[in-house]
Amino acid sequence: MKPLPRTIEWIGDLPGFVRLIDQTLLPTRLEYRECTSVEDIWEAIRSLRVRGAPAIGVAAAMGVVVGVQAHADAATFAARLKEVVDFLRTSRPTAVNLFWALERMEKAALAVRANLENVKRRLLQEALAIEAEDRRMCQAIGQVGAGLIKAGQGILTHCNAGSLATAGTGTALAVIYAAAEDGKIIHVFADETRPLLQGARLTAWELQQAGIDVTVICDSMAAQVMRDGKVQLVIVGADRIAANGDTANKIGTYGVALLARAHNIPFYVAAPSSTFDLALASGAEIPIEQRDPREVSEVLGQAVAPEGVRVYNPAFDVTPAELISGIITESGLIRPVNPATICACLARPAQA
Ligand code: MRU
Repeated sequence: MKPLPRTIEWIGDLPGFVRLIDQTLLPTRLEYRECTSVEDIWEAIRSLRVRGAPAIGVAAAMGVVVGVQAHADAATFAARLKEVVDFLRTSRPTAVNLFWALERMEKAALAVRANLENVKRRLLQEALAIEAEDRRMCQAIGQVGAGLIKAGQGILTHCNAGSLATAGTGTALAVIYAAAEDGKIIHVFADETRPLLQGARLTAWELQQAGIDVTVICDSMAAQVMRDGKVQLVIVGADRIAANGDTANKIGTYGVALLARAHNIPFYVAAPSSTFDLALASGAEIPIEQRDPREVSEVLGQAVAPEGVRVYNPAFDVTPAELISGIITESGLIRPVNPATICACLARPAQA
């Protein structure tokens, strides 16, 4: 597999900055954006320059370092840290990796009772650890899931759960990359994923870069492609998984899961442990981001709906656990999906 460019990276030491691929410009331009303030990071997350649950977590962790690194007053450092963390919490509501990473950063700072420079260094260490762990989790998810794929299969995916959505090779796409590395020739169908086209713009781009055979379809074509017998497996990522396995992912995922059930096609979710929110009993409690109506009523800045028309634009939906054949994690495959199998799997160490 051809190597993919790094989605997000810490540049320098202390002080340093974050360099990330500006995903709003893909697939036509591969450009990097330098984020030197916490406001830059917040804006990059909010406007989907960096997106995908694990990558959002890594960006937030690095954003904390960017936000506190210049603060020189020990007496007000804790207040500044809280201000930065609270601000980043407001960037996007659904992907739990954001809150998980920010909590880790807060705990890391609290554990150091030394001078300011040591606290800052500990925060940088923690952000880099979150990034490195994410890379390892992607690798392990790929290995756990690759066995589910047989050579010659057609695999449908929705949105982008690949290298662009993580610090590593992705979640759903990590499974596809691992199967390809095992020598299995597979074909991927990428739902275009309206309204922001993460499937057409990002998944198709990164699979093409990696040399994987990919076909883009409009979201509305998935049923027909399944009935034609072209898809034997569906794999998607996740933004938040509740304790019972209900899974929030990009809007449209629930429909794909229903279609897969209707056509008797296995539907898998791939996600690291950082995407589980065991504090929520079911998907009904997952906060769903509502985004700007213009994302639906305009395409490339051009109106595609009448001025002033009402628009509904939830960024995510929730797929009930009963539609999910299994969840592929770095610690193993959760199958069947229920509270007990989830707890048992997450208690196990990651597969190397
Ligand atoms: O709005 P986005 O592009 O951040 O939504 C991303 C998704 O829904 C992904 O499928 C999910 O975050 C998993 S990424 C490994």
